[in-house]
Amino acid sequence: MGEGKRILLVVSGGIAAYKCPDLVRRLRERGYGVRCVLTQGGAQFVTPLALGAVSGDTVYQDLFSLTDESEMGHIRLSREADLVLVAPATANIIAAMAAGLAGDLATTVLLATDKPVMIAPAMNVRMWEHPATRANVTTLRNRGIGLVGPEAGDMACGETGMGRMSDPNDIVAAVDGFFRNAGRLAGRKAVITSGPTFEAIDPVRFIGNHSSGKQGHAIAAALAHMGAQTTLVTGPTAQPDPSGVSVIHVRSAREMHDACLEALPADIAVCAAAVADWRVADEAAQKIKKGANAAPPSLTLIPNPDILAALAAAGNKRPRLVVGFAAETENVVENATAKRARKGCDWIVANDVSPSTGTFGGDANAVHLIDGEGAESWPLLSKEAVAERLATRIAERLEEATP
Ligand code: C5P
Repeated sequence: MGEGKRILLVVSGGIAAYKCPDLVRRLRERGYGVRCVLTQGGAQFVTPLALGAVSGDTVYQDLFSLTDESEMGHIRLSREADLVLVAPATANIIAAMAAGLAGDLATTVLLATDKPVMIAPAMNVRMWEHPATRANVTTLRNRGIGLVGPEAGDMACGETGMGRMSDPNDIVAAVDGFFRNAGRLAGRKAVITSGPTFEAIDPVRFIGNHSSGKQGHAIAAALAHMGAQTTLVTGPTAQPDPSGVSVIHVRSAREMHDACLEALPADIAVCAAAVADWRVADEAAQKIKKGANAAPPSLTLIPNPDILAALAAAGNKRPRLVVGFAAETENVVENATAKRARKGCDWIVANDVSPSTGTFGGDANAVHLIDGEGAESWPLLSKEAVAERLATRIAERLEEATP
């Protein structure tokens, strides 16, 4: 699998660094060439001698080493890899990456690299859940940096929770997956909808909903990573634009509808937006006054265009694969199966959004993928992992359709 592929492994200072010689050995068994950069903290948990022995290469530690700089230089070091893998990635190195700090060799290499980067976080559960780490991880994700783990479990500090570094086998599987998927959708075009729509009542008021846009944005990022030329049409959200994606910002369902149809032809359409079903019939040109004793205004609602159904019925411009989402609170699979038929799309990703699941605005999603043959239930996954899986399934489907 890994023949000819080179990995630069950055080992930062977490106790999980003791697993790195095993990780290096497993990567090399798969055929990857591995070269290590060890931080000062990392060297407290694993020796350069051990990493050097298993990688069969020099272990780089010093930013200002005369020999390293004359032989190699941190710029070359950062460019001579096909993938930069940070494992374990501590809260500190994640924060440095998010901020663009370059105080040692590892962070300098990470700032100088133009290669894809993947991180395997490892830290105490409170550090992982701290708002600073949450924000930093989101920043890295939006930059297109891949994440493997962390996992839940017992920690070296005696606490239990999210923050254990993934098992070396799982990290190797993620690296394999990365190389298998990179460029797999090259030459394909994808249109994704995401977020809510806002339907104006007057120039200052609107009808909206709680969609965060996390899932749709993650799907756009995953398809772009696989090489698809990706257009994301998004309603108002707090999500930053994913890198490598061309983003069209809209507000209303009608704007979203028009932008999607204009983006055709495409091979793939994924409608993850929570489009408002109705809009106000007569949007007021001026702010509606409360008046002294006036009765509250009554609003007449009219239906919005159904974007998913329109894409699925776009005649010779119909994308080869049209995927919709179904947010359900009961009879999830039955209702979503009926929706697939009603909308004329190929697949429906059905998710349970009853308040107890925390799906709306949350980070995880339990979904069922429904196609013409039936339903397949996926385990509870992060929204990024759902996006990765869906993008992989899309690539497989298109590969089947084009011999
Ligand atoms: O009809 P319902 O809103 O339950 O269907 C959900 C699916 O349809 C989602 O994929 C959503 O993005 C899409 N949809 C749409 N335009 C609408 C309503 C829903 O694209 N007006």
